[in-house]
Amino acid sequence: MIYDVVIIGAGAAGLMCAAQAGYSGKRVLVLDHASKAGKKILMSGGGRCNFTNLGTTPQHFYSANPSFCISALKRYRPEHFVELVERHGVEHVEKTPGQLFCATSAKEIVRTLLTECEWAGAEIALNTKITRVERQGDAMQLSTSLGNIDAGVVVVASGGLSIPTMGATGFGYDLARQFGLEVFDTRPGLVPFTLSDTWKARAAELAGVSVPVAVSAGRHCFNDPMLFTHRGLSGPAMLQVSSVWQPGESIMINLLPGENVAASLREARQVTPKRQLSTWLIERFPKRLAQALLEWYPDHDPTRPLAEYANQALDQWAVRLNAWQLKPAGTEGWRTAEVTMGGVNTAMLSSKTFEVKGLPQLRFIGEVVDVTGELGGYNFQWAWASGVACGQSC
Ligand code: FDA
Repeated sequence: MIYDVVIIGAGAAGLMCAAQAGYSGKRVLVLDHASKAGKKILMSGGGRCNFTNLGTTPQHFYSANPSFCISALKRYRPEHFVELVERHGVEHVEKTPGQLFCATSAKEIVRTLLTECEWAGAEIALNTKITRVERQGDAMQLSTSLGNIDAGVVVVASGGLSIPTMGATGFGYDLARQFGLEVFDTRPGLVPFTLSDTWKARAAELAGVSVPVAVSAGRHCFNDPMLFTHRGLSGPAMLQVSSVWQPGESIMINLLPGENVAASLREARQVTPKRQLSTWLIERFPKRLAQALLEWYPDHDPTRPLAEYANQALDQWAVRLNAWQLKPAGTEGWRTAEVTMGGVNTAMLSSKTFEVKGLPQLRFIGEVVDVTGELGGYNFQWAWASGVACGQSC
């Protein structure tokens, strides 16, 4: 079996790359050990796939080399992917500003990519185990459960480590190391937090309650909803901050972003002195959370009128609500993480073709590379953009 391009991984980046390489006249084969192509696409965005973000800029990505992603993202923009899906009749909706989802099902995105591969003449072999990848002079040779395959170029699009049950493996990282590339430490990103002991029990009692918050860790701050869960905290705000959080560190949660609680409480005390703190809280939070807050901090009788609260007591509540410091026990880990932080050091890759410098027969695209997007469709946009840049230049 001889191919111009063999792509390892029939996920978002691999399928996009295959279609582009096929359209440019190359004989292309995509290999995947899974039984289905695009499994992560199918489960993404709650089954509706948040396939891009119209506001994509390089600032939405984490990488040790923040400028690496610029070239590919500039060449293949969200509008290009929107044009592609619209050509395939995929209806879409903009849920949160800029975030585009399928109107019906993520299956539509996989259908689009598989149709593109078919039209471009790219072959796909699923259920295929790859045991070895070696350089053979100017080309590459793969040992697989289908037999030996010779390839002019091997593209590694095997993704990151998140959700092993969906077929995620460290294959791409091992291969990178085999060829002498540096791989930065990996850790789960966009992942819910777990809490321990008292806070875990408190969060569990509120499981299902969601509130808008501003959460920060270090110099990063995210304004998004937070969700209490049986294990701890989730929701877009927590997923976002998990990508920048360091184990052992506290996060700061502002439960009333946009409201200066110290000033509001003083004003309420002056204007409505007979009002109770519980009433003030219920006006701002879901009832279950307002009640929980009073139980967590039982230092004052909640039925006392605000007039009886000293400045110091009001300031205490201001800290609790505007600057709640909480130390997560950890995260839910690879089991539920949406992405992998870290990965193949981009210093060894061309940002135009994604080839390994000094070894153009080997390329790395998508999530396996040390480029990780924030929540909101950026990770797929990176998969499309890196797939296109690599596929067109193979
Ligand atoms: P991807 O993981 O898609 O594909 C890798 C492929 O390689 C897989 O098919 C795998 O089976 C194969 N493979 C792995 N090891 C192999 C081996 N040893 N041999 C052969 N094949 C191998 N992003 C976003 O922008 N919007 C969203 O809505 C979501 N939602 C979301 C939800 C959930 C639950 C998850 C887990 C992730 C998301 N993401 C997301 C992230 C997004 O799914 C991810 O960034 C892309 O799928 C990455 O594309 P890749 O092609 O790089 O890897």
